Amino acid sequence: MKSTIQVHDKHFEVFIEQSVLEKRITALASSINQDYAGKQPLFLAILNGSFMFAAELMKSITVSCEITFLRVSSYQATESTGKVHQILGLSESIENRDIIIIEDIIDTGLTMIEIKKQLLAQNPSSLSVATLFQKPEALKQPIEIEYIGFEIENKFVLGYGLDYDGLGRNLADLYVLSE
Ligand code: IMP
Ligand code: MG
Repeated sequence: MKSTIQVHDKHFEVFIEQSVLEKRITALASSINQDYAGKQPLFLAILNGSFMFAAELMKSITVSCEITFLRVSSYQATESTGKVHQILGLSESIENRDIIIIEDIIDTGLTMIEIKKQLLAQNPSSLSVATLFQKPEALKQPIEIEYIGFEIENKFVLGYGLDYDGLGRNLADLYVLSE
């Protein structure tokens, strides 16, 4: 039987080990280095979840670049309009910049669709997305994602920056909810 850990009331087991995550992140960085040769991208890492992925990715980025960190606040506007996401912390101008968003996981995709819409309104020269995980079955609307680390099943995961009600972001491996 696999060893499990308990976080709050739930049990999780190792799903993707740190070494596998980091090997894949290095490969994503290589693709970005090739695609952005001669350019100077500005990475926008979405807090809190992407901090570990962002740090690991940046260690293998060799093109000249900048990074800054954003938050997305989310609140229910009305029943009919659903959730509203507001970008907080972007003080740099992104006009005419090559922007790469760094996100931990794309689940329904609704957060990323809204982030992209708001950033595109500020006229960057290009906008692409690097996400460590995606759950293709959970996607509610089609969305273009240039760099995907792992496509995973539609199950709740934890660790490597991702939390369950605040806990577990420090775990070095990715865990999945035990059945
Ligand atoms: P979306 O708008 O449904 O794509 O939500 C994306 C956000 O939900 C991510 O940035 C995560 O913060 C959170 N999230 C989605 N799935 C998981 C998961 O399996 N574990 C932890 N957080 C998740
Ligand atoms: Mg997140």
